[in-house]
Amino acid sequence: MARGILIGGQKGGTGKSLVACNLATMISSQGMDVVLVDCDIQATSYKFWSRRSEKDFDCILERHDVFDIAKFEDTLQQCRINYDVLVVDVGGQDSKHLRAALACDAIDVLLSPIQPSFSDIETLVHLDNLVESAIQFNTELDTYCLVNRCHYNHNVTSRKSALGFIDKHCKNLKSFDQTLTDLIAYRQAFGKGQSVIEFEDVRNGSKRCSAEMQLLYKCLTGRNYKVMT
Ligand SMILES: Nc1ncnc2c1ncn2[C@@H]1O[C@H](COP(=O)(O)OP(=O)(O)O)[C@@H](O)[C@H]1O
Ligand SMILES: [Mg+2]
Repeated sequence: MARGILIGGQKGGTGKSLVACNLATMISSQGMDVVLVDCDIQATSYKFWSRRSEKDFDCILERHDVFDIAKFEDTLQQCRINYDVLVVDVGGQDSKHLRAALACDAIDVLLSPIQPSFSDIETLVHLDNLVESAIQFNTELDTYCLVNRCHYNHNVTSRKSALGFIDKHCKNLKSFDQTLTDLIAYRQAFGKGQSVIEFEDVRNGSKRCSAEMQLLYKCLTGRNYKVMT
């Protein structure tokens, strides 16, 4: 499975930190040594990790005041050596961290959450161009978009129009069939420093977010997610 997972994109508020934190938590729950690298000045992923009582994976908060590309690449390479899986949240803009991480061969896969609205989807053209440049250096990089925050009634339409746009306008980005729905449990779990699996596990209600994240996990890793009891 991919050992270097980059969660990034040009738009803010698309769910990058939420996806990064859920994946880091889920992958570590499968017995792997995971490090989450937060490169966003808002430190959303780092704060999620700080809220977790059990530090079952490590988290590194990158500096923003000075950006040293060699140091950043070295951090990513060291993480890849020292951990089974490295999850990087680069934050929401065309940043130096995003460009450097895309081009670094410690990263195998880019997952870019995107909301199903045209003003968000059209930014994928720029991301596709960044990927085009990066793959000259990181030749094995695999790149995917993940349509997130779909209206619960409109998943199919959202996915179809996003897929259509990506097919037509993007040369490098592919799309996951799996989408995530806009559901309050995603926000509630995040606020508690829990993955949706942990959050929904102790509730008696719907486990819809867990089901979606497990399918995402399978798409990304090629492995079934095992719920630990
Ligand atoms: N599928 C979802 N359902 C409900 N809320 C979501 C979902 N995805 C993201 N959010 C919420 O949207 C906001 C932005 O998400 P965040 O992960 O911080 O975005 P980003 O890191 O891309 O800026 C947060 O309040 C988050 O909890
Ligand atoms: Mg974020």
